[in-house]
Amino acid sequence: METIWGRRSLDLDLTGLAERLANYNRVMLDLGTGDGKFAFHYARTFPSHFVIGVDSCRENLREYSSTKLPNALFVIANAQSLPCELNGLTSHITINFPWGSLLKSLLDGEPKFMRGLEAVSCMGASLTVRLNGGALAEQGWTLEDGTEQIYNNLMQAGWRLKSPVLMQAEVLRGFPTTWAKRLAFGRDPRAMQLSGYL
Ligand SMILES: C[S@@+](CC[C@H](N)C(=O)[O-])C[C@H]1O[C@@H](n2cnc3c(N)ncnc32)[C@H](O)[C@@H]1O
Repeated sequence: METIWGRRSLDLDLTGLAERLANYNRVMLDLGTGDGKFAFHYARTFPSHFVIGVDSCRENLREYSSTKLPNALFVIANAQSLPCELNGLTSHITINFPWGSLLKSLLDGEPKFMRGLEAVSCMGASLTVRLNGGALAEQGWTLEDGTEQIYNNLMQAGWRLKSPVLMQAEVLRGFPTTWAKRLAFGRDPRAMQLSGYL
């Protein structure tokens, strides 16, 4: 699979990945990681966990991927076709403020995407999805209806979710992703959090 280190792209095979993961028994996957700030923050906060940030766009990842934390890795991949090297590894998946085809896959309950989420998860894996009103509006949904649609799709795909929780501007302001900060000071500073287990 393609990994990114600042400006360099490196291919990492299963053996190389196993070496990186050797001392960790919890792996967190941040899907649609953007600039990787959340993954970086998580890796620094939980040094005993390994964090993999995945995004289809490499340009934004240059800064955080160059920081070389031993427990963080950044992968360039499409959420709809995640590298098979990741299969069965993940104990926790986060999807923070998805937009574009990542959000559409959640809204459509796209089977290939949903199977991919399951494939990269280990038994009992947990999932947290944070959705914002502006991105849902761009796809023709209100925050409430879009959240309900995604909730139903994930439940149908086998995730056992708790009731959605509203994130207000104050919570977004303190949340360590670049996008959360933008939302907190934007026109619609609301988001919904879905979380549950496989
Ligand atoms: C609004 S940004 C949020 C970034 C980050 N999670 C944050 O909170 O700052 C949405 C991210 O989803 C990524 N994305 C959209 N569609 C994707 C896909 N199909 N596969 C992987 N990443 C995708 C975009 O490249 C972008 O970085």
